Amino acid sequence: MKHLLKLLDCSTEEIIGLLDLADQLKYEQKHNISHRHLEGKSLGMIFQKSSTRTRVSFETGMYQLGGQALFLSNRDLQIGRGEPVQDTARVLSRYLDGIMIRTYAQKEVEDLAEYGSIPIINGLTDFCHPCQVLADLMTIREKFAVLEGLKMCYIGDGNNMANSLIVGGLKTGMKVSIATPVDYRPDAEVMAFAEPNPNFFITDDPMKAAENADVVITDTWASMGQEAEKEVRMKAFQGYQVNDELLAAAKPGCMVQHCLPAYREQEITTKVFEEHASEIFEEAENRLHAQKAVMVTLMGSIEE
Ligand code: CP
Ligand code: NVA
Repeated sequence: MKHLLKLLDCSTEEIIGLLDLADQLKYEQKHNISHRHLEGKSLGMIFQKSSTRTRVSFETGMYQLGGQALFLSNRDLQIGRGEPVQDTARVLSRYLDGIMIRTYAQKEVEDLAEYGSIPIINGLTDFCHPCQVLADLMTIREKFAVLEGLKMCYIGDGNNMANSLIVGGLKTGMKVSIATPVDYRPDAEVMAFAEPNPNFFITDDPMKAAENADVVITDTWASMGQEAEKEVRMKAFQGYQVNDELLAAAKPGCMVQHCLPAYREQEITTKVFEEHASEIFEEAENRLHAQKAVMVTLMGSIEE
């Protein structure tokens, strides 16, 4: 693996390899076993959107691996004043050992990888959120011990999370069922990847999607950058809430995941959120371990 731009680029073996390494690094962290695989290395973190989890978990993760992370806000970088991403990539490649970027257009991430000469990690675009879904798969596997054959159900907006969950779920042998309003379906490229797979099911009926699910997942109805559409979206997603009625259609004792931030009484009720809080916050913690696995794989080597 050279970069983590989107899960569509990753093989099943690469995804499973990252999850295995994430488990190992989590174990080492919990048992105070040193794992400074990135001693002396620097990660640049470019943020064009807000973040709590991604920023703090990458920065802390890099520190735990013996390296350092630089927070590079769009407001402070020349990229925010129009310097081309191609130039930024070529300059930063001479200082840093890797770049994590959170931005709007997937193309910007792909351009960084094309013009730079160091590993690029996608920390969320409008198209996908691969780091989050690695953490989700890790958390699901921790609970069930396997991924293959489990049914994942995603309810709500066919957004970056939906796109990455579909790809990550199908590539690891899960059944993936999605319920979105017809006007808010996942990206066409993801649909083209998923639709030939007999493990994929899409509907506009949340109850049907949730039937017999092992894991129920949702996300905000208005993602970053969609603030102006908020009112329209709140109406469009009525009926797509993860609540007790929906969970009654899933398997008894099913898992609930949410990448956070969560908007109570919109995409998820307070009751369901709190009843599944331990799973949801484990998922948030696993961002740290999964991303450390990504950084070690791309920027270092276990043997070093
Ligand atoms: N889930 C997630 O990516 O959170 P942040 O936006 O806080 O980084
Ligand atoms: N879909 C959300 C995810 C936030 C982590 C967004 O893009 O804002």
